[in-house]
Amino acid sequence: MARHPRDVQLTLTLPPTGAALRHRIAEAIIDAIRLGRLHPGDALPPTRALAAELGVARAGVVEAYDELCAAGYACARPGSGTLIAPGADAAAAAGAGSHVSDRPTPVPDTEPTTAAPTWDLTPGCPDTGLISPDDWRRAWRTAAAAPIHPRSAGPTGHPELRHALAVHLRRTRGILAHPDELVLVPGVDSALRTLAAAADLAGRDIAFEEPGYRNARRALEMSGARLRPVGIDADGLDPAALRDTDAAVYCTPAHQYPLGARMPVTRRADLLARAAESGTLIIEDDYDGEFRYDVSALPALRSVEGGREHVAYIGTASKIISPSIRLAWLLPPPALLQRVHDALRRTGENCCGVTGLALAHFIESGALTRHLARASRTYSARRAALVDALRSRPALMDRPGIHLAGIEAGLHMVLRLPDRADDDAIAAELGTRGIAVPGLGPYRTDAAGPRGLMCGYAQLPESQADAVAGAIADVVGRHLDR
Ligand SMILES: Cc1ncc(COP(=O)(O)O)c(C=O)c1O
Repeated sequence: MARHPRDVQLTLTLPPTGAALRHRIAEAIIDAIRLGRLHPGDALPPTRALAAELGVARAGVVEAYDELCAAGYACARPGSGTLIAPGADAAAAAGAGSHVSDRPTPVPDTEPTTAAPTWDLTPGCPDTGLISPDDWRRAWRTAAAAPIHPRSAGPTGHPELRHALAVHLRRTRGILAHPDELVLVPGVDSALRTLAAAADLAGRDIAFEEPGYRNARRALEMSGARLRPVGIDADGLDPAALRDTDAAVYCTPAHQYPLGARMPVTRRADLLARAAESGTLIIEDDYDGEFRYDVSALPALRSVEGGREHVAYIGTASKIISPSIRLAWLLPPPALLQRVHDALRRTGENCCGVTGLALAHFIESGALTRHLARASRTYSARRAALVDALRSRPALMDRPGIHLAGIEAGLHMVLRLPDRADDDAIAAELGTRGIAVPGLGPYRTDAAGPRGLMCGYAQLPESQADAVAGAIADVVGRHLDR
């Protein structure tokens, strides 16, 4: 900055906008900087002089100078008045404003205007309307009444939620975990990135279900791991397909995503035995393990003998509450725990402490147990209605290659289609009829992989199942007859 500020003869024209006077003066000065009429180090005119010249109240000029100082365009120096700050020319050229406009930002013309579907069967969306508003509000009131933490929680934070989750996991999934072994992350993809860093998976092979969960694939690939697709059958991932060179295997044994298989106990034991032998880390994504219908519970891999040493278990609030709250939990093998903490400290990924506290109260008060009981009953009825509605259409279901899969658990089923079916085109046409029901295309990397429609029923009222099934039967039938 110049030692003796240059006095400039400044002629300003205020923009004829409806903005407040201080904004208009500040904008005119930024314009003068942009046009090179004012340079860093120049002194702005005394406020009284500029006010007189512009014919405005002096207070408006004082406020404009304050605004320019706050935005970094100017700085007040005792004895020298207000000077244009270093770098103000670059900021003005880049178009940075001195304030946030009062006017609403216009919606760009290119904004997509897709109408909301009438029936949304996109999997992954629980019915949040089933959550008791009283219980939910009570949990948040308790969280809001707690003191605000002055720093972010970090990987060893959220003690209340880790404690509540340890109890929840024991009761609902048969998993024994000390609260200190649990790590909170803002989603399953974050858990996977963390595991990849903690277990040094970059550049190594990970056996990955094919077809499989797209976000998990992306998270692991972005961490530098080499994903090796492993086909699945009616029992999920086949342990015989594992290789000694697989550093890890990603699987969804409770309800294979997307096809819905439940991995039988014998296969679980086999998978663990093989992993123990080859030192492969099993990544168990238990995204919807809380929901099953008319079938007995299968133990989580983590709870099977040997699971504690070889399984990194991941659970999430996305299905039991909503994906919008961004909370998931990771239970790594004890040998990896410290490295998981270190990895999270390096990435800085963290969860909201207040949300964590609210969920902890929701669980501890018994509200989650009540919610899961109510939600399971509702989902069970919705699932049965959709299954019945589809099965009552022999013109659809009697075609070769068509059957329902994955109906025993979770929040979605798959209407499997013949290999020649263009499931994504069928899904697109159903979209035009107001039914969002994705095809399997986004989940397979093998173009010749299985065909089908992913039918999430969590938000589909029983009364609507028949209309949806009718439209699906109609569109699928016409596509297959072409
Ligand atoms: C297999 C699988 N894992 C995890 C999730 C949810 O993950 P998150 O906790 O990141 O919302 C989903 C959501 O649909 C899923 O399908």
